[in-house]
Amino acid sequence: MKTYDLAIVGATGLVGQTFIKVLEERNFPINKIVFFASKRSAGKTVLFKNETYQVRELTTESFNEHFDFALFSAGAKTSLTYGPIAKDKKIVVIDNSSAFRMDAEIPLVVPEVNGYVLDKDDYLIANPNCSTIQSVVPIKVIDDLFGIKRVVYSTYQATSGAGYAGLEDLKRGQNGLEPVHFEKPIYDNCLPHIDIFLEDGYTKEEQKMIFETKKLLNKDIKVTATCVRVPITYGHSVSMNVETYRKIDLNLLIKAFNEVDGLIYHDKDYPTVQAYRHQDDIHLGRLRLDDSVENGLNLWVVADNIRKGAATNTIQIAEYMIKEGLK
Ligand code: A2P
Repeated sequence: MKTYDLAIVGATGLVGQTFIKVLEERNFPINKIVFFASKRSAGKTVLFKNETYQVRELTTESFNEHFDFALFSAGAKTSLTYGPIAKDKKIVVIDNSSAFRMDAEIPLVVPEVNGYVLDKDDYLIANPNCSTIQSVVPIKVIDDLFGIKRVVYSTYQATSGAGYAGLEDLKRGQNGLEPVHFEKPIYDNCLPHIDIFLEDGYTKEEQKMIFETKKLLNKDIKVTATCVRVPITYGHSVSMNVETYRKIDLNLLIKAFNEVDGLIYHDKDYPTVQAYRHQDDIHLGRLRLDDSVENGLNLWVVADNIRKGAATNTIQIAEYMIKEGLK
């Protein structure tokens, strides 16, 4: 079996640490693995498959040695600086930040939705936003069957979406301390504010969900979103209201959901993030017709934002390329 040389960028972060777990669990075919972070972490160690590795400082020289894949999760600024350097060395960069997602030339991929867009000459690939990933998997199934006219997303997003800093603010609040990362207290609160506010009143997180859904489906459907940070640790929930062109047959839809690998439909009990934390699958429930429009549907979708919403999807993109013979 062919094995691959991997660079992990942002290895000390929440997603970086989850890359390690997911690579171990899925037994990704590795020949060599190198862990990078900022200067602050140089010399720290990480454990991978019971072996200790020194974390290296990421520099412009880091990609002078051979790598097949570089998995980035170190923020948009780091990706913008170092992603193109790795790409120029013909290393496949799979980037978890928002740096390249909006770029029409750069593939944005959820393998089970649009893996077909990938090509052997792709050296810079964007991993979508966490809430978008878990939403677009069922959305694609609905669209294929009944043609989506409009989607309204309302999200309930975990503090880990903001990395260790987000989790820390939740803990601070529990201990009666003011937040450091979030603008307002997240403990015992809901903040309809994720990422920065834009001129039109939307947040950048909402803009990401709207733009990325269209790019992933390669369709100009109508999408709107309200994204809310809620005081939980891991796992995002999304309530979706969907309007379709054709009449919805629930039995047909459930059958199609059940055919998608990694998508679990719950018929009776509804799924919660607590029940499926630190797991890779997307869980869907509360499926019901919306009679307030001609062809409407409501559903509830949960997934672990650091797993399928970030690390797992990134690794699945690399696995897809290997499986399809692109690498
Ligand atoms: P470091 O721990 O050295 O700051 P989080 O999930 O907590 O947001 O983690 C972000 C990750 O991105 C961390 O591993 C962090 O490393 C890394 N990072 C941040 N800035 C840089 C940079 N300029 N170069 C390399 N890695 C960086």
